[in-house]
Amino acid sequence: MNQSWWKESVIYQIYPRSFKDSNGDGIGDLKGITSKMEYLRTLGIDVIWLSPIYKSPNDDNGYDISDYQDIMDEFGTTEDFDELLETAHQNGIKIMMDLVVNHSSDEHSWFIESKSSKDSKKRDWYIWKPGKNGKEPNNWEACFKGSAWEYDETTEEYYLHLFSKKQPDLNWENPSLRKEIYNMMTWWVEKGIDGFRMDVINFISKDTRFPEGELFEGKLYGNGSKYYMNGPRIHEFLQEMNKEVLSKYDIITVGETPGVTPEEAKLYTGHNRNELNMVFQFEHMGLGDGIEGKWSNQPWKLSDLKQTMTRWQKGLEEDGWNSLYWNNHDQPRVVSRFGNDQEYRVESAKMLATCLHMMQGTPYIYQGEEIGMTNVAFESIDQYKDIETLNAYKDLVSEQRLSREEMMKAIHDRGRDNARTPMQWDNTTNAGFTTGTPWIEVNPNYKEVNVEKSLKDKDSIFYYYQKLIHLRKEHDIIVYGSYDLILDNDEQIYAYTRSLHDEKLLVICNFSSESTTFTLPNGIDYTSSNLLIHNYEVNSNESFTEFVLKPFEARVYKLQ
Ligand code: NOJ
Repeated sequence: MNQSWWKESVIYQIYPRSFKDSNGDGIGDLKGITSKMEYLRTLGIDVIWLSPIYKSPNDDNGYDISDYQDIMDEFGTTEDFDELLETAHQNGIKIMMDLVVNHSSDEHSWFIESKSSKDSKKRDWYIWKPGKNGKEPNNWEACFKGSAWEYDETTEEYYLHLFSKKQPDLNWENPSLRKEIYNMMTWWVEKGIDGFRMDVINFISKDTRFPEGELFEGKLYGNGSKYYMNGPRIHEFLQEMNKEVLSKYDIITVGETPGVTPEEAKLYTGHNRNELNMVFQFEHMGLGDGIEGKWSNQPWKLSDLKQTMTRWQKGLEEDGWNSLYWNNHDQPRVVSRFGNDQEYRVESAKMLATCLHMMQGTPYIYQGEEIGMTNVAFESIDQYKDIETLNAYKDLVSEQRLSREEMMKAIHDRGRDNARTPMQWDNTTNAGFTTGTPWIEVNPNYKEVNVEKSLKDKDSIFYYYQKLIHLRKEHDIIVYGSYDLILDNDEQIYAYTRSLHDEKLLVICNFSSESTTFTLPNGIDYTSSNLLIHNYEVNSNESFTEFVLKPFEARVYKLQ
């Protein structure tokens, strides 16, 4: 297998709005991030993925960009960015920028020019269509609900927006637009940044016939995803981007690619494909999705999770590369979702970290995950800020597809604001995030769960993550070993091996609040064993071929 620094790295995602406020306006900012660089160095991460920091009217918290080469007012100035980049580099940390080029903001000068007239030079930089029989050009639903088309009176046409109506989709069919994007990317790389996380990058090529989407019973709008996910020219566009920009530098790239299968992921990340280093897949995040997607949760089994993860581990083993994540700014907190955020918060957070970081791929840590931050359950919908959550609430409750109670429960379980409450630094007012009024309320458990406390406790989740990162630097097998699932059908234990040359890792994780017996299957040969990491005390002469695993216990043995 080819060795690369980005395979050996651990990435830490920062959602700047919620990380650290330096000026008391209640909104996290760049200076706040810079002030925490030492903390991140102590954790040991190699790369920061910065969610968007560009100029934006914040309809979708920065995922609606109005100037790709300027900084959002609330976050600071270009000088603040330069300082952040320099401080990161001084600390041996790289910076991976979010790149949001499926769409821009409707306040971007390109869009303003585009919508001004049908003859505008930038008309074709966005996707404009006349209506059909007095209605939208087709029935596609936007990811944030409602029609994906918005009527604009100036030229009496509709523009496409797969997300909010303030996020018009860019038209990648237009070569001058593509060239402008490559220039902008080059400008950032020349400034010294180290890579890109590409927002919904597999949506940029649309089926230009814009066929009607599949319409499900009782729904107003259809699902057009098969006409814009992994569209007809997607690989051509990415190969062009690679040739024009990425191939010229030693940078890291990860594409956010909802709906991709391992087979498709190989096309995006395969060694000779000249596209991306890795992609974010969503299959494990979609477990339990029902008829209303994540808003109607269905029960699922541990074996479903194991099968999904294993399909990805085996699918990209020979070619391509996995990104490993449980959390990001769009997902609920994993300790609440797959662990137990009450009685076993610490144990289950450590177990989940073990299970993920020992797999093959590049691990991502989302801010607060390293201290076991949990979901929040605000009582009133008015306490929520996320556009996706608010639009879904409006739609689903008013169309009586879900009751208010069902929807609030779904928001508590799966809503994006679970990840966006302020980072919990200490037990002072507002968790030390801001001296002002935070833009979104702090999780009330901050007195119990915070960085200051974690740093004082040698058994904390923080130091466990630090150790996992350290182990990765010491043992090639954690990065490069091949993965095999064992005990496939066990509904409490997720166990697997990693193999490299004559070494093996044995990873054993109890995903339940009950104790259970682990029995090593036949056929795993070894002469010596070494316990690398564990989240409970283990008696040094205990045999690992058969033992009782405590609730959410995790152990990793190195066998030789
Ligand atoms: C995916 C991002 O992760 C999410 O936060 C955003 O709302 C959409 N893409 C639209 O940019």
